[in-house]
Amino acid sequence: MILETRGIGKRFGSVLALRDVSMGVRAGEVTCVLGDNGAGKSTLIKILAGVHQHDAGTLLVDGREVRLTGPRDALDRGIATVYQDLAMIPLMSVWRNFFLGSEPRKGLAFDVARARRVAREELKAMGIDIRDVDQPVGTLSGGERQSVAIARAVHFGARVLILDEPTSALGVKQAGVVLRYIARARDRGLGVVFITHNPHHAYPVGDRFLLLNRGAGMGEYGKADITPQELTSLMSGGAELEELAHELRRE
Ligand SMILES: Nc1ncnc2c1ncn2[C@@H]1O[C@H](COP(=O)(O)OP(=O)(O)O)[C@@H](O)[C@H]1O
Ligand SMILES: [Mg+2]
Repeated sequence: MILETRGIGKRFGSVLALRDVSMGVRAGEVTCVLGDNGAGKSTLIKILAGVHQHDAGTLLVDGREVRLTGPRDALDRGIATVYQDLAMIPLMSVWRNFFLGSEPRKGLAFDVARARRVAREELKAMGIDIRDVDQPVGTLSGGERQSVAIARAVHFGARVLILDEPTSALGVKQAGVVLRYIARARDRGLGVVFITHNPHHAYPVGDRFLLLNRGAGMGEYGKADITPQELTSLMSGGAELEELAHELRRE
Protein backbone atom coordinates (compact mmCIF):
# COMPACT_ATOMS: atom_id res chain seq x y z
CA MET A 1 0.00 0.00 0.00
CA ILE A 2 1.57 3.30 -1.09
CA LEU A 3 -1.15 5.58 0.15
CA GLU A 4 -3.86 4.96 2.74
CA THR A 5 -6.48 6.89 4.68
CA ARG A 6 -8.02 5.60 7.91
CA GLY A 7 -11.21 7.26 9.09
CA ILE A 8 -10.23 10.56 7.53
CA GLY A 9 -12.41 13.64 8.07
CA LYS A 10 -12.51 17.26 6.96
CA ARG A 11 -14.68 20.18 7.97
CA PHE A 12 -15.05 23.59 6.29
CA GLY A 13 -16.60 25.80 8.96
CA SER A 14 -20.00 24.25 9.59
CA VAL A 15 -19.84 21.98 6.51
CA LEU A 16 -18.69 18.44 7.25
CA ALA A 17 -17.23 17.73 3.78
CA LEU A 18 -15.77 14.33 4.67
CA ARG A 19 -16.29 11.94 7.56
CA ASP A 20 -14.68 8.65 8.44
CA VAL A 21 -13.36 7.75 4.98
CA SER A 22 -10.97 4.81 4.63
CA MET A 23 -9.30 3.87 1.37
CA GLY A 24 -6.06 2.47 -0.03
CA VAL A 25 -3.91 2.80 -3.14
CA ARG A 26 -1.52 0.04 -4.19
CA ALA A 27 1.23 0.10 -6.82
CA GLY A 28 -0.03 -1.25 -10.14
CA GLU A 29 -3.69 -0.81 -9.16
CA VAL A 30 -6.46 1.64 -9.93
CA THR A 31 -8.62 2.84 -7.03
CA CYS A 32 -11.78 4.57 -8.25
CA VAL A 33 -13.51 7.18 -6.10
CA LEU A 34 -17.15 7.51 -7.09
CA GLY A 35 -19.82 9.89 -5.91
CA ASP A 36 -22.37 12.47 -6.93
CA ASN A 37 -21.67 16.22 -7.10
CA GLY A 38 -20.79 17.49 -3.63
CA ALA A 39 -20.03 13.98 -2.32
CA GLY A 40 -16.55 15.04 -1.21
CA LYS A 41 -14.42 13.54 -4.01
CA SER A 42 -12.33 16.66 -4.64
CA THR A 43 -11.93 17.28 -0.91
CA LEU A 44 -10.61 13.74 -0.44
CA ILE A 45 -8.04 13.98 -3.21
CA LYS A 46 -6.96 17.45 -2.11
CA ILE A 47 -6.06 15.88 1.24
CA LEU A 48 -4.07 13.16 -0.58
CA ALA A 49 -2.42 15.88 -2.71
CA GLY A 50 -1.42 18.02 0.29
CA VAL A 51 -3.71 20.93 -0.66
CA HIS A 52 -5.96 20.48 2.39
CA GLN A 53 -5.04 19.12 5.79
CA HIS A 54 -7.36 16.52 7.31
CA ASP A 55 -8.73 17.25 10.77
CA ALA A 56 -9.68 13.71 11.73
CA GLY A 57 -8.26 10.24 11.08
CA THR A 58 -4.84 9.31 9.71
CA LEU A 59 -3.03 9.53 6.39
CA LEU A 60 -0.28 7.01 5.67
CA VAL A 61 2.40 7.02 2.95
CA ASP A 62 4.34 3.76 2.58
CA GLY A 63 2.72 2.56 5.79
CA ARG A 64 3.90 5.51 7.86
CA GLU A 65 1.65 8.19 9.28
CA VAL A 66 2.26 11.60 7.70
CA ARG A 67 0.88 15.11 7.73
CA LEU A 68 1.47 16.68 4.33
CA THR A 69 2.60 20.29 4.56
CA GLY A 70 1.55 21.23 1.02
CA PRO A 71 1.40 20.12 -2.64
CA ARG A 72 5.22 20.27 -2.88
CA ASP A 73 5.51 17.84 0.04
CA ALA A 74 3.09 15.42 -1.67
CA LEU A 75 4.98 15.71 -4.97
CA ASP A 76 8.31 15.04 -3.21
CA ARG A 77 6.76 11.80 -1.93
CA GLY A 78 5.75 10.86 -5.48
CA ILE A 79 2.07 11.83 -5.24
CA ALA A 80 1.12 13.74 -8.40
CA THR A 81 -2.29 15.19 -9.22
CA VAL A 82 -3.86 16.03 -12.57
CA TYR A 83 -6.73 18.46 -12.00
CA GLN A 84 -9.76 19.01 -14.20
CA ASP A 85 -8.41 22.32 -15.52
CA LEU A 86 -5.01 20.67 -16.19
CA ALA A 87 -2.87 23.78 -15.64
CA MET A 88 -1.69 23.92 -19.25
CA ILE A 89 -1.17 26.89 -21.51
CA PRO A 90 -3.18 26.35 -24.74
CA LEU A 91 -1.04 28.58 -26.97
CA MET A 92 2.23 26.94 -25.89
CA SER A 93 3.61 23.87 -27.64
CA VAL A 94 3.12 20.34 -26.33
CA TRP A 95 6.80 19.98 -25.32
CA ARG A 96 6.82 23.39 -23.61
CA ASN A 97 3.77 22.43 -21.55
CA PHE A 98 5.37 19.09 -20.80
CA PHE A 99 8.24 20.87 -19.02
CA LEU A 100 6.28 23.79 -17.63
CA GLY A 101 7.83 24.73 -14.29
CA SER A 102 10.63 22.16 -14.50
CA GLU A 103 12.54 23.06 -17.66
CA PRO A 104 15.81 21.17 -18.26
CA ARG A 105 18.87 23.42 -18.29
CA LYS A 106 22.07 23.37 -20.28
CA GLY A 107 24.29 25.92 -18.64
CA LEU A 108 21.93 28.85 -18.30
CA ALA A 109 20.16 28.35 -21.61
CA PHE A 110 17.05 26.26 -21.96
CA ASP A 111 17.91 22.99 -23.68
CA VAL A 112 15.19 23.02 -26.31
CA ALA A 113 16.47 20.08 -28.32
CA ARG A 114 16.57 17.84 -25.26
CA ALA A 115 13.14 18.99 -24.05
CA ARG A 116 11.60 18.22 -27.45
CA ARG A 117 13.22 14.80 -27.59
CA VAL A 118 12.25 13.81 -24.03
CA ALA A 119 8.65 14.96 -24.50
CA ARG A 120 8.37 12.99 -27.75
CA GLU A 121 9.91 9.84 -26.19
CA GLU A 122 7.79 9.96 -23.02
CA LEU A 123 4.57 10.42 -24.99
CA LYS A 124 5.55 7.51 -27.21
CA ALA A 125 6.34 5.32 -24.20
CA MET A 126 2.78 5.93 -22.99
CA GLY A 127 1.52 4.99 -26.45
CA ILE A 128 0.45 8.56 -27.17
CA ASP A 129 0.62 9.35 -30.84
CA ILE A 130 1.12 13.10 -31.21
CA ARG A 131 2.29 13.95 -34.70
CA ASP A 132 4.12 17.11 -33.78
CA VAL A 133 5.29 18.14 -30.28
CA ASP A 134 5.65 21.72 -31.59
CA GLN A 135 1.91 22.08 -32.08
CA PRO A 136 0.06 24.19 -29.49
CA VAL A 137 -1.61 22.19 -26.71
CA GLY A 138 -4.84 24.04 -27.55
CA THR A 139 -5.06 22.17 -30.86
CA LEU A 140 -5.16 18.76 -29.11
CA SER A 141 -8.40 16.99 -28.28
CA GLY A 142 -9.51 16.88 -24.64
CA GLY A 143 -8.44 13.25 -24.36
CA GLU A 144 -4.99 13.97 -25.81
CA ARG A 145 -4.49 16.86 -23.40
CA GLN A 146 -5.32 14.63 -20.43
CA SER A 147 -2.87 12.08 -21.83
CA VAL A 148 -0.06 14.65 -22.03
CA ALA A 149 -0.72 15.59 -18.40
CA ILE A 150 -0.57 11.92 -17.38
CA ALA A 151 2.68 11.31 -19.34
CA ARG A 152 4.20 14.41 -17.71
CA ALA A 153 3.40 13.16 -14.20
CA VAL A 154 4.85 9.74 -15.01
CA HIS A 155 8.03 11.30 -16.40
CA PHE A 156 8.58 13.42 -13.29
CA GLY A 157 8.60 10.37 -11.08
CA ALA A 158 5.04 9.97 -9.83
CA ARG A 159 4.36 6.79 -7.87
CA VAL A 160 0.76 7.72 -7.24
CA LEU A 161 -1.25 9.46 -9.93
CA ILE A 162 -4.44 11.23 -8.86
CA LEU A 163 -6.88 12.13 -11.63
CA ASP A 164 -9.84 14.38 -10.80
CA GLU A 165 -12.69 13.58 -13.21
CA PRO A 166 -10.43 13.26 -16.28
CA THR A 167 -13.23 11.77 -18.41
CA SER A 168 -16.21 13.83 -17.26
CA ALA A 169 -16.10 16.48 -19.98
CA LEU A 170 -15.34 13.94 -22.74
CA GLY A 171 -17.41 12.00 -25.24
CA VAL A 172 -17.40 8.19 -25.29
CA LYS A 173 -14.48 7.86 -27.72
CA GLN A 174 -12.24 10.45 -26.01
CA ALA A 175 -13.04 8.96 -22.62
CA GLY A 176 -11.85 5.62 -24.01
CA VAL A 177 -8.54 7.23 -24.97
CA VAL A 178 -7.99 8.47 -21.40
CA LEU A 179 -9.02 5.11 -19.88
CA ARG A 180 -6.33 3.43 -22.01
CA TYR A 181 -3.66 5.76 -20.58
CA ILE A 182 -4.89 5.11 -17.07
CA ALA A 183 -4.39 1.38 -17.75
CA ARG A 184 -0.97 2.16 -19.23
CA ALA A 185 0.10 4.10 -16.11
CA ARG A 186 -1.13 1.17 -13.98
CA ASP A 187 0.87 -1.29 -16.10
CA ARG A 188 3.97 0.84 -15.50
CA GLY A 189 3.49 0.18 -11.79
CA LEU A 190 1.87 3.42 -10.66
CA GLY A 191 -0.92 3.49 -8.13
CA VAL A 192 -3.79 5.42 -9.72
CA VAL A 193 -6.64 7.23 -7.96
CA PHE A 194 -9.35 7.79 -10.54
CA ILE A 195 -12.17 10.15 -9.56
CA THR A 196 -15.37 9.97 -11.56
CA HIS A 197 -19.13 10.03 -11.19
CA ASN A 198 -19.52 7.59 -14.07
CA PRO A 199 -19.55 3.87 -13.12
CA HIS A 200 -19.24 2.93 -16.82
CA HIS A 201 -15.87 4.69 -16.90
CA ALA A 202 -14.75 3.30 -13.54
CA TYR A 203 -15.59 -0.38 -13.91
CA PRO A 204 -13.39 -1.33 -16.90
CA VAL A 205 -10.14 0.04 -15.35
CA GLY A 206 -10.86 -0.10 -11.62
CA ASP A 207 -9.41 -2.68 -9.22
CA ARG A 208 -11.19 -1.23 -6.18
CA PHE A 209 -14.08 1.15 -5.79
CA LEU A 210 -14.74 3.64 -3.02
CA LEU A 211 -18.22 5.12 -2.96
CA LEU A 212 -18.80 8.49 -1.34
CA ASN A 213 -22.22 9.78 -0.35
CA ARG A 214 -22.53 13.24 1.20
CA GLY A 215 -19.04 13.05 2.60
CA ALA A 216 -19.29 9.55 4.01
CA GLY A 217 -17.57 6.45 2.67
CA MET A 218 -20.13 3.77 1.72
CA GLY A 219 -17.48 1.09 1.67
CA GLU A 220 -14.57 0.05 -0.52
CA TYR A 221 -15.22 -2.85 -2.88
CA GLY A 222 -12.74 -5.05 -4.72
CA LYS A 223 -13.68 -5.79 -8.32
CA ALA A 224 -14.58 -9.37 -7.41
CA ASP A 225 -17.04 -8.12 -4.75
CA ILE A 226 -19.24 -5.98 -6.95
CA THR A 227 -20.86 -6.31 -10.39
CA PRO A 228 -21.11 -3.44 -12.87
CA GLN A 229 -24.88 -3.46 -12.30
CA GLU A 230 -24.48 -3.14 -8.52
CA LEU A 231 -21.97 -0.33 -8.91
CA THR A 232 -24.28 1.54 -11.30
CA SER A 233 -27.26 1.02 -9.04
CA LEU A 234 -25.35 2.27 -5.96
CA MET A 235 -24.09 5.27 -7.89
CA SER A 236 -27.38 6.31 -9.44
CA GLY A 237 -29.08 6.22 -6.05
CA GLY A 238 -31.01 3.10 -7.14
CA ALA A 239 -32.81 2.68 -3.80
CA GLU A 240 -33.77 6.34 -3.57
CA LEU A 241 -35.13 6.32 -7.11
CA GLU A 242 -37.21 3.23 -6.40
CA GLU A 243 -38.71 4.92 -3.37
CA LEU A 244 -39.46 8.00 -5.44
CA ALA A 245 -41.10 5.90 -8.17
CA HIS A 246 -43.26 4.27 -5.51
CA GLU A 247 -44.24 7.64 -4.07
CA LEU A 248 -45.13 9.13 -7.47
CA ARG A 249 -47.13 6.12 -8.65
CA ARG A 250 -50.74 6.87 -9.64
CA GLU A 251 -53.25 5.61 -7.14
N1 LIG B 1 -12.88 25.19 0.29
C1 LIG B 1 -14.13 24.90 0.70
N2 LIG B 1 -14.78 25.69 1.58
C2 LIG B 1 -16.02 25.39 2.00
N3 LIG B 1 -16.72 24.32 1.60
C3 LIG B 1 -16.15 23.49 0.73
C4 LIG B 1 -14.83 23.74 0.22
N4 LIG B 1 -14.51 22.74 -0.64
C5 LIG B 1 -15.57 21.92 -0.68
N5 LIG B 1 -16.57 22.36 0.15
C6 LIG B 1 -17.85 21.69 0.38
O1 LIG B 1 -17.60 20.33 0.69
C7 LIG B 1 -18.54 19.47 0.05
C8 LIG B 1 -17.82 18.48 -0.85
O2 LIG B 1 -17.31 19.17 -1.99
P1 LIG B 1 -16.33 18.49 -3.06
O3 LIG B 1 -15.26 17.77 -2.35
O4 LIG B 1 -15.92 19.54 -4.03
O5 LIG B 1 -17.31 17.45 -3.78
P2 LIG B 1 -17.19 16.70 -5.20
O6 LIG B 1 -15.81 16.89 -5.72
O7 LIG B 1 -17.54 15.29 -4.91
O8 LIG B 1 -18.22 17.32 -6.10
C9 LIG B 1 -19.52 20.39 -0.66
O9 LIG B 1 -20.62 20.60 0.20
C10 LIG B 1 -18.73 21.66 -0.87
O10 LIG B 1 -19.57 22.77 -0.96
MG1 LIG C 1 -15.04 17.61 -7.64
